[in-house]
Amino acid sequence: MDEICGPLFEWYDKHKRDLPWRATRVPYYIWISEVILQQTRVAQGYDYFVRFIEHFPTVEELAAAPEDEVMRLWQGLGYYSRARNLHAAAKQVVALGEFPRTYEQIRALKGVGDYTAAAIASFAFDVPKAAVDGNVCRVWARLFGLDTPIDTARGKQQITEVAQALLPVAQAAKYNQAVMEFGALQCTPQSPKCDECPLAHKCVALATGRVGELPMKSHKTKVMPRYMSYLYIHNGEEMLLHKRTANDIWLNLYELPLIETASAIGAEELFCVPEFVAWHAMLPGAVYKGATGTVKHVLSHRVLHTVFYEFEVEGALPCPEGFVMVPLEELGRYALPRLIEKYLEEKIGR
Ligand code: ADE
Ligand code: SF4
Repeated sequence: MDEICGPLFEWYDKHKRDLPWRATRVPYYIWISEVILQQTRVAQGYDYFVRFIEHFPTVEELAAAPEDEVMRLWQGLGYYSRARNLHAAAKQVVALGEFPRTYEQIRALKGVGDYTAAAIASFAFDVPKAAVDGNVCRVWARLFGLDTPIDTARGKQQITEVAQALLPVAQAAKYNQAVMEFGALQCTPQSPKCDECPLAHKCVALATGRVGELPMKSHKTKVMPRYMSYLYIHNGEEMLLHKRTANDIWLNLYELPLIETASAIGAEELFCVPEFVAWHAMLPGAVYKGATGTVKHVLSHRVLHTVFYEFEVEGALPCPEGFVMVPLEELGRYALPRLIEKYLEEKIGR
């Protein structure tokens, strides 16, 4: 056992969390867990994982499900392209006849990148491939004092080479789990526990006082603001929804009628926006209640500034092409972005 994996494995045996996807070798379960954990913390992903495999116990059942059902289970997790890719990849797996077993075949599944392919291949099939995610980058960048920015191809490659060189071929699964867990629990982004670290004696960052500055990043991703005015149009029993077709944040989720503008606008300026004027004209006699909700929602490279405006209609709702009229008690059947769901929960206590 080498000088790094020895103490690392000892640490892992003592500190590892009992997580359901660690107790299985079923590639389907491992795949689902890794996709959920791509952009979601373990604490939040846990329940989604359990619900997801209860609902779709096999890849065949996932592949055969309607997409709306998959999206509904994913609702609230965010980064919805993961769910769409999962669904498409399930069909790929079913077409193959069995779950792919090599790194390259797994990497060819929709939504599976280098990290996820290495994680699945090693956890399920002991393929000796190092899995390199954010946690792993941080551990090796600090331990070896690597200062090439990790958000560049060169930095990523450098760390991948180090991670691969250290991997004990007979224990690929344990190695990948251990480094990841070490990054998640011990060598954390803020205040790593260096004073009780089993690798402290080998750590270049600690020895050179650079723990705080490693890993390096070249630039922060630019955060683009979006300004969205949603119209909650209802008659107390039914409301209008629209299935998003724009391939950006929430493809195929349902949302309220939307007016998007290039800058922030207030309630008065809305009356100068042609789409708003058109809705207003379609709703004669409706009680316009103005803004009844405001939410700022931060994504990794977007900030959504959303304001909800409410129209209460007397009698039948108009339902222009592209919209669906949904009974309020059937809202639960539609996958909605979390921020819209929250607003509606407050309005109608669904
Ligand atoms: N994050 C990503 N994959 C993980 C795993 N298998 N266990 C714990 N955290 C993770
Ligand atoms: Fe990470 Fe600190 Fe351990 Fe170095 S000494 S590996 S920075 S926890």
